[in-house]
Amino acid sequence: MSPRMDREAFCRQSNVVVVAGKGGVGKTTVTAALARMAADVGLEVLVIELDDAGGLPVLFGLEVAFDYDEEVLYEAPGSGGRVRGRVITPDDALVEYLEGHGLRRVAKRLVSTGVLEVVATAIPGIREVLVLGKVKQLERSSTSDLIVLDAPAAGHAVTFLTSALGLMDAARGGPLRSQAQGVVELLRDPARCQVMLVSLPEETPVNELIETAYRFEDLVGVALAPVVVNACYPVLTHLLADPVAAAAAANVDPPGPAEAARLAAAAKFRATRQELQAIQLARLRAGLPLPQLLLPYEFTADLGPEQLGMLSEALGTAIEALSAGDAA
Ligand SMILES: Nc1ncnc2c1ncn2[C@@H]1O[C@H](COP(=O)(O)OP(=O)(O)OP(=O)(O)O)[C@@H](O)[C@H]1O
Ligand SMILES: [Mg+2]
Repeated sequence: MSPRMDREAFCRQSNVVVVAGKGGVGKTTVTAALARMAADVGLEVLVIELDDAGGLPVLFGLEVAFDYDEEVLYEAPGSGGRVRGRVITPDDALVEYLEGHGLRRVAKRLVSTGVLEVVATAIPGIREVLVLGKVKQLERSSTSDLIVLDAPAAGHAVTFLTSALGLMDAARGGPLRSQAQGVVELLRDPARCQVMLVSLPEETPVNELIETAYRFEDLVGVALAPVVVNACYPVLTHLLADPVAAAAAANVDPPGPAEAARLAAAAKFRATRQELQAIQLARLRAGLPLPQLLLPYEFTADLGPEQLGMLSEALGTAIEALSAGDAA
């Protein structure tokens, strides 16, 4: 039997993990769960958001305004690991780039006049390369063991990552080309960067995930981590048991007819849902030869630190169940 995968080894497979998937499937939630799991095994983690609208700090129980400065989001009890978080926008990355190239005095003014809009129209892909260039710089600076990047929704994520390639072809030389080239080198080195795709166990997200996976591999040449299937209903057995007989067997008062009918309806709903979920998981397995990490559906209106703890624990358990050979 091949050795089981260890959480820390999993988190140390690459310096950067880009979490991508269709809109609303749980990219931000999975980003937070992975970051927290890595911190719990002692890693210094940096989470990068591309805007401040995703609600990531709330998952860590914080109401902080999230911006270009780093915030500590989580300190793991006992392990010494931490999660820091920050936002990187193209404008901020441009200011920093200009400042780093001897244009400190004009950088902010230039950017506030909307120069990036003009430049971005003239040079497609520049925004993405500025942001990814900053990610690359943070990766090279080794101030964290793991960077988790919460990527834009699926189609945009492919554009996001392919833009550096386009720019590299377009720019014959100079700093832009070397910046784009540095990003491409980051994306193509599996020890530095991997993409973790997220889906729900539902038809459309599964289709989109399979399609995106191949585009990432073919167009970008980026390594794919195991896929995360988020919000899976825990599989219940005995759903079709008769409530009256089950009550008798458990030695409790039997339900009245109305309650028994409601229980039967709920059980039927859940059984149908489980069946659909199993079909979609099988389709994903058939369509994409990557290991699957299943995360449970959390039955609450708003997710906070408690649910995040359960999700990161579930992620760790799923990772441990992968054999090291399969996960490579
Ligand atoms: N495992 C889960 N159980 C229950 N609810 C979940 C789970 N994962 C995510 N959610 C909820 O689903 C919604 C979408 O999740 P999230 O914001 O992480 O998705 P996203 O892919 O980042 O979305 P967007 O594309 O808008 O950035 C949120 O309300 C979140 O709380
Ligand atoms: Mg999000």
